[in-house]
Amino acid sequence: MFRSAKKTRIMILSEKYYYVEFSLLEDLGVEPRPLQFVNIWIPGVDEVPMSISQYTEEKLYVLFKVVGEGTRGLRDRWGFFGVKGPLGNGISLNNYSRVLFIAGGTGIAPLPLLARHAERNGVELDVIWGVKKSSELFDVKTLAPSVNNVYYASEDCIVGYCGRASDLAERFLREHAWRYDIVICVGPKNMLLDICRKAGSLVDVYVSLEAIVKCGFGACGSCILKPIPKLLCTDGPVFKCNEVYKHLEWNSQY
Ligand SMILES: Cc1cc2nc3c(=O)[nH]c(=O)nc-3n(C[C@H](O)[C@H](O)[C@H](O)COP(=O)(O)OP(=O)(O)OC[C@H]3O[C@@H](n4cnc5c(N)ncnc54)[C@H](O)[C@@H]3O)c2cc1C
Ligand code: FES
Repeated sequence: MFRSAKKTRIMILSEKYYYVEFSLLEDLGVEPRPLQFVNIWIPGVDEVPMSISQYTEEKLYVLFKVVGEGTRGLRDRWGFFGVKGPLGNGISLNNYSRVLFIAGGTGIAPLPLLARHAERNGVELDVIWGVKKSSELFDVKTLAPSVNNVYYASEDCIVGYCGRASDLAERFLREHAWRYDIVICVGPKNMLLDICRKAGSLVDVYVSLEAIVKCGFGACGSCILKPIPKLLCTDGPVFKCNEVYKHLEWNSQY
Protein backbone atom coordinates (compact mmCIF):
# COMPACT_ATOMS: atom_id res chain seq x y z
CA MET A 1 0.00 0.00 0.00
CA PHE A 2 1.30 3.43 -0.92
CA ARG A 3 1.18 6.19 1.67
CA SER A 4 0.95 9.78 0.66
CA ALA A 5 4.07 11.96 0.94
CA LYS A 6 4.86 15.50 -0.14
CA LYS A 7 8.27 16.45 -1.45
CA THR A 8 9.37 19.37 0.70
CA ARG A 9 13.09 19.89 0.02
CA ILE A 10 15.93 18.89 -2.25
CA MET A 11 19.65 19.28 -1.55
CA ILE A 12 22.33 19.00 -4.22
CA LEU A 13 25.11 17.10 -2.45
CA SER A 14 27.63 16.93 -5.29
CA GLU A 15 27.70 16.47 -9.04
CA LYS A 16 24.73 14.12 -9.72
CA TYR A 17 23.91 13.29 -6.06
CA TYR A 18 20.63 14.53 -4.55
CA TYR A 19 19.04 14.28 -1.13
CA VAL A 20 15.27 14.63 -1.05
CA GLU A 21 13.06 15.23 1.96
CA PHE A 22 9.46 13.99 1.94
CA SER A 23 6.90 15.02 4.55
CA LEU A 24 4.94 11.89 5.38
CA LEU A 25 1.22 12.65 5.38
CA GLU A 26 0.59 9.16 6.75
CA ASP A 27 2.93 7.44 9.22
CA LEU A 28 4.87 4.41 7.88
CA GLY A 29 3.47 2.49 10.87
CA VAL A 30 6.80 1.02 11.95
CA GLU A 31 10.27 2.48 12.47
CA PRO A 32 12.54 1.41 9.58
CA ARG A 33 15.72 -0.56 10.24
CA PRO A 34 19.00 0.38 8.53
CA LEU A 35 19.21 -0.91 4.94
CA GLN A 36 15.46 -1.29 4.53
CA PHE A 37 14.02 0.42 1.49
CA VAL A 38 10.86 1.99 0.10
CA ASN A 39 9.25 1.98 -3.33
CA ILE A 40 8.52 5.55 -4.34
CA TRP A 41 5.70 6.10 -6.80
CA ILE A 42 6.27 9.14 -8.98
CA PRO A 43 2.84 9.98 -10.44
CA GLY A 44 2.77 9.63 -14.22
CA VAL A 45 6.35 8.35 -14.35
CA ASP A 46 7.28 5.13 -12.53
CA GLU A 47 8.00 3.43 -9.22
CA VAL A 48 11.60 3.28 -8.00
CA PRO A 49 13.12 1.38 -5.08
CA MET A 50 15.25 3.60 -2.82
CA SER A 51 17.13 2.87 0.40
CA ILE A 52 15.79 4.75 3.40
CA SER A 53 18.49 7.29 3.97
CA GLN A 54 17.02 8.88 7.06
CA TYR A 55 13.69 8.82 8.84
CA THR A 56 11.74 10.63 11.53
CA GLU A 57 8.04 10.10 12.30
CA GLU A 58 7.13 12.90 9.92
CA LYS A 59 9.98 12.89 7.37
CA LEU A 60 11.62 10.45 5.04
CA TYR A 61 14.87 11.12 3.18
CA VAL A 62 16.33 9.41 0.11
CA LEU A 63 19.70 9.93 -1.54
CA PHE A 64 20.12 9.18 -5.23
CA LYS A 65 21.87 9.78 -8.50
CA VAL A 66 19.86 10.51 -11.67
CA VAL A 67 20.11 7.55 -14.08
CA GLY A 68 16.78 7.52 -15.97
CA GLU A 69 13.15 8.68 -16.07
CA GLY A 70 12.26 7.64 -12.51
CA THR A 71 15.16 9.30 -10.75
CA ARG A 72 14.79 12.36 -13.01
CA GLY A 73 11.16 12.57 -11.83
CA LEU A 74 12.32 12.28 -8.24
CA ARG A 75 14.62 15.23 -8.78
CA ASP A 76 12.41 17.48 -10.92
CA ARG A 77 8.82 16.90 -9.80
CA TRP A 78 7.21 18.53 -6.79
CA GLY A 79 3.92 17.86 -5.04
CA PHE A 80 2.62 14.47 -3.96
CA PHE A 81 4.30 11.07 -4.23
CA GLY A 82 3.46 7.57 -2.95
CA VAL A 83 5.69 5.69 -0.50
CA LYS A 84 5.43 1.91 0.02
CA GLY A 85 7.44 0.38 2.85
CA PRO A 86 9.60 -0.08 4.79
CA LEU A 87 10.43 -3.12 2.61
CA GLY A 88 12.97 -5.90 3.15
CA ASN A 89 14.63 -7.00 6.37
CA GLY A 90 17.43 -4.53 6.96
CA ILE A 91 20.03 -5.16 9.63
CA SER A 92 20.23 -4.77 13.40
CA LEU A 93 23.41 -3.50 15.08
CA ASN A 94 22.43 -4.66 18.58
CA ASN A 95 25.16 -7.27 18.98
CA TYR A 96 28.14 -5.33 17.67
CA SER A 97 30.60 -2.79 19.01
CA ARG A 98 32.59 -1.83 15.90
CA VAL A 99 31.36 -1.91 12.30
CA LEU A 100 32.94 -0.98 8.97
CA PHE A 101 30.60 0.29 6.24
CA ILE A 102 31.96 0.10 2.68
CA ALA A 103 30.04 1.93 -0.05
CA GLY A 104 30.47 2.22 -3.79
CA GLY A 105 28.70 5.15 -5.51
CA THR A 106 25.07 5.51 -4.39
CA GLY A 107 25.69 2.67 -1.92
CA ILE A 108 26.37 5.54 0.51
CA ALA A 109 22.57 6.21 0.63
CA PRO A 110 21.70 4.09 3.71
CA LEU A 111 24.54 5.52 5.82
CA PRO A 112 22.67 8.31 7.71
CA LEU A 113 20.09 5.88 9.19
CA LEU A 114 22.78 3.26 9.85
CA ALA A 115 24.87 5.88 11.66
CA ARG A 116 21.93 6.97 13.80
CA HIS A 117 21.28 3.37 14.87
CA ALA A 118 25.02 2.87 15.51
CA GLU A 119 25.11 5.93 17.75
CA ARG A 120 21.97 4.82 19.60
CA ASN A 121 23.51 1.36 20.27
CA GLY A 122 26.97 2.67 21.19
CA VAL A 123 28.51 1.11 18.06
CA GLU A 124 31.60 2.72 16.52
CA LEU A 125 31.14 3.08 12.77
CA ASP A 126 33.93 3.65 10.23
CA VAL A 127 33.26 4.27 6.55
CA ILE A 128 35.04 3.63 3.25
CA TRP A 129 33.35 5.35 0.30
CA GLY A 130 34.55 5.17 -3.28
CA VAL A 131 33.29 6.80 -6.48
CA LYS A 132 34.41 6.96 -10.10
CA LYS A 133 34.73 10.77 -10.30
CA SER A 134 35.81 12.78 -7.27
CA SER A 135 33.25 15.47 -8.19
CA GLU A 136 30.62 12.99 -6.95
CA LEU A 137 32.04 13.01 -3.42
CA PHE A 138 30.63 15.09 -0.56
CA ASP A 139 31.50 15.20 3.14
CA VAL A 140 29.51 12.28 4.56
CA LYS A 141 29.66 13.82 8.03
CA THR A 142 27.16 16.47 6.88
CA LEU A 143 24.52 13.69 6.74
CA ALA A 144 26.01 11.30 9.30
CA PRO A 145 27.90 13.40 11.88
CA SER A 146 28.35 10.53 14.37
CA VAL A 147 30.55 8.32 12.15
CA ASN A 148 34.14 7.92 13.42
CA ASN A 149 36.60 7.66 10.54
CA VAL A 150 35.81 8.20 6.87
CA TYR A 151 38.17 7.07 4.09
CA TYR A 152 37.48 8.22 0.53
CA ALA A 153 38.56 6.66 -2.77
CA SER A 154 38.19 8.04 -6.29
CA GLU A 155 39.02 6.36 -9.58
CA ASP A 156 40.13 9.67 -11.12
CA CYS A 157 42.66 9.84 -8.25
CA ILE A 158 41.86 13.45 -7.30
CA VAL A 159 40.54 12.85 -3.77
CA GLY A 160 41.56 10.15 -1.30
CA TYR A 161 42.87 6.73 -2.26
CA CYS A 162 43.60 6.39 -5.99
CA GLY A 163 41.44 3.47 -7.18
CA ARG A 164 38.32 1.51 -6.35
CA ALA A 165 36.67 1.29 -2.93
CA SER A 166 37.09 -2.51 -2.99
CA ASP A 167 40.87 -2.17 -3.49
CA LEU A 168 41.14 0.32 -0.63
CA ALA A 169 38.95 -1.94 1.53
CA GLU A 170 41.10 -4.98 0.79
CA ARG A 171 44.32 -3.17 1.77
CA PHE A 172 42.66 -1.67 4.84
CA LEU A 173 41.11 -4.94 6.02
CA ARG A 174 44.33 -6.93 5.62
CA GLU A 175 45.66 -4.83 8.49
CA HIS A 176 42.54 -3.84 10.44
CA ALA A 177 39.92 -6.61 9.98
CA TRP A 178 40.46 -7.79 13.59
CA ARG A 179 39.08 -4.46 14.84
CA TYR A 180 35.61 -5.02 13.34
CA ASP A 181 32.76 -7.33 14.33
CA ILE A 182 31.22 -7.09 10.89
CA VAL A 183 31.61 -5.32 7.55
CA ILE A 184 28.53 -4.06 5.70
CA CYS A 185 28.98 -3.42 2.01
CA VAL A 186 26.61 -1.64 -0.41
CA GLY A 187 27.42 -1.00 -4.05
CA PRO A 188 27.53 -2.51 -7.54
CA LYS A 189 27.47 -6.33 -7.70
CA ASN A 190 31.03 -6.67 -9.03
CA MET A 191 32.23 -4.70 -6.00
CA LEU A 192 30.24 -6.90 -3.61
CA LEU A 193 31.71 -10.02 -5.23
CA ASP A 194 35.19 -8.56 -4.91
CA ILE A 195 34.70 -7.76 -1.22
CA CYS A 196 33.22 -11.20 -0.50
CA ARG A 197 36.21 -12.85 -2.21
CA LYS A 198 38.88 -10.70 -0.63
CA ALA A 199 37.52 -9.95 2.84
CA GLY A 200 35.04 -12.78 3.47
CA SER A 201 37.76 -14.94 5.07
CA LEU A 202 38.98 -12.10 7.34
CA VAL A 203 35.70 -10.90 8.87
CA ASP A 204 31.91 -11.47 8.66
CA VAL A 205 30.71 -9.57 5.61
CA TYR A 206 27.13 -8.54 4.87
CA VAL A 207 26.23 -7.27 1.41
CA SER A 208 23.15 -5.31 0.36
CA LEU A 209 21.96 -6.14 -3.16
CA GLU A 210 19.86 -4.48 -5.83
CA ALA A 211 17.38 -6.11 -8.23
CA ILE A 212 14.30 -5.09 -10.17
CA VAL A 213 11.67 -4.51 -7.50
CA LYS A 214 7.97 -4.34 -8.45
CA CYS A 215 5.49 -5.55 -5.79
CA GLY A 216 7.93 -5.39 -2.85
CA PHE A 217 6.21 -8.16 -0.85
CA GLY A 218 7.18 -11.46 -2.49
CA ALA A 219 4.30 -11.86 -4.94
CA CYS A 220 5.61 -11.05 -8.43
CA GLY A 221 9.02 -12.79 -8.53
CA SER A 222 10.74 -9.91 -10.36
CA CYS A 223 13.46 -9.60 -7.70
CA ILE A 224 14.55 -13.25 -7.68
CA LEU A 225 18.31 -13.58 -7.19
CA LYS A 226 19.07 -16.10 -9.95
CA PRO A 227 20.29 -18.84 -9.76
CA ILE A 228 19.42 -19.04 -6.05
CA PRO A 229 15.80 -19.26 -4.90
CA LYS A 230 15.81 -16.08 -2.83
CA LEU A 231 13.82 -12.88 -3.27
CA LEU A 232 15.48 -9.56 -2.64
CA CYS A 233 12.32 -7.91 -1.35
CA THR A 234 11.45 -10.44 1.36
CA ASP A 235 14.73 -12.29 2.05
CA GLY A 236 17.03 -9.27 1.62
CA PRO A 237 18.27 -6.83 0.56
CA VAL A 238 21.02 -7.70 3.12
CA PHE A 239 22.67 -11.11 3.05
CA LYS A 240 25.83 -12.79 4.32
CA CYS A 241 28.33 -13.39 1.50
CA ASN A 242 27.92 -17.16 1.56
CA GLU A 243 24.13 -16.85 1.11
CA VAL A 244 24.37 -14.94 -2.18
CA TYR A 245 27.86 -15.79 -3.47
CA LYS A 246 26.46 -17.94 -6.32
CA HIS A 247 24.19 -15.10 -7.40
CA LEU A 248 27.06 -12.59 -7.42
CA GLU A 249 29.25 -14.99 -9.41
CA TRP A 250 26.44 -15.81 -11.84
CA ASN A 251 25.72 -12.12 -12.31
CA SER A 252 29.36 -11.37 -13.14
CA GLN A 253 29.24 -13.92 -15.97
CA TYR A 254 26.01 -12.74 -17.69
C1 LIG B 1 16.61 -2.17 -2.69
C2 LIG B 1 17.12 -1.08 -3.61
C3 LIG B 1 17.56 0.10 -3.05
C4 LIG B 1 18.06 1.12 -3.89
N1 LIG B 1 18.48 2.27 -3.30
C5 LIG B 1 18.93 3.26 -4.07
C6 LIG B 1 19.35 4.48 -3.47
O1 LIG B 1 19.26 4.68 -2.26
N2 LIG B 1 19.83 5.45 -4.29
C7 LIG B 1 19.91 5.27 -5.66
O2 LIG B 1 20.38 6.20 -6.36
N3 LIG B 1 19.51 4.14 -6.25
C8 LIG B 1 19.02 3.13 -5.49
N4 LIG B 1 18.59 1.97 -6.08
C9 LIG B 1 18.64 1.85 -7.55
C10 LIG B 1 17.46 2.61 -8.14
O3 LIG B 1 16.27 1.99 -7.73
C11 LIG B 1 17.54 2.61 -9.67
O4 LIG B 1 18.68 3.31 -10.06
C12 LIG B 1 16.31 3.29 -10.22
O5 LIG B 1 15.21 2.42 -10.08
C13 LIG B 1 16.50 3.61 -11.68
O6 LIG B 1 15.26 4.11 -12.15
P1 LIG B 1 15.21 5.13 -13.37
O7 LIG B 1 13.81 5.10 -13.89
O8 LIG B 1 15.76 6.46 -12.99
O9 LIG B 1 16.19 4.53 -14.40
P2 LIG B 1 15.86 3.48 -15.55
O10 LIG B 1 15.57 4.24 -16.80
O11 LIG B 1 14.86 2.45 -15.09
O12 LIG B 1 17.23 2.80 -15.63
C14 LIG B 1 18.42 3.54 -15.85
C15 LIG B 1 19.57 2.63 -15.58
O13 LIG B 1 19.50 2.12 -14.23
C16 LIG B 1 19.45 0.71 -14.22
N5 LIG B 1 18.48 0.28 -13.20
C17 LIG B 1 17.13 0.35 -13.28
N6 LIG B 1 16.55 -0.15 -12.19
C18 LIG B 1 17.54 -0.57 -11.40
C19 LIG B 1 17.59 -1.19 -10.14
N7 LIG B 1 16.50 -1.51 -9.45
N8 LIG B 1 18.79 -1.45 -9.61
C20 LIG B 1 19.91 -1.14 -10.29
N9 LIG B 1 19.94 -0.55 -11.49
C21 LIG B 1 18.77 -0.29 -12.05
C22 LIG B 1 19.00 0.29 -15.59
O14 LIG B 1 19.55 -0.97 -15.95
C23 LIG B 1 19.55 1.39 -16.47
O15 LIG B 1 20.89 1.15 -16.85
C24 LIG B 1 18.09 0.94 -5.30
C25 LIG B 1 17.62 -0.25 -5.85
C26 LIG B 1 17.14 -1.26 -5.01
C27 LIG B 1 16.64 -2.53 -5.61
S1 FES C 1 9.43 -7.39 -6.00
FE1 FES C 1 7.83 -8.80 -6.34
S2 FES C 1 8.64 -10.59 -5.45
FE2 FES C 1 10.11 -9.13 -4.95
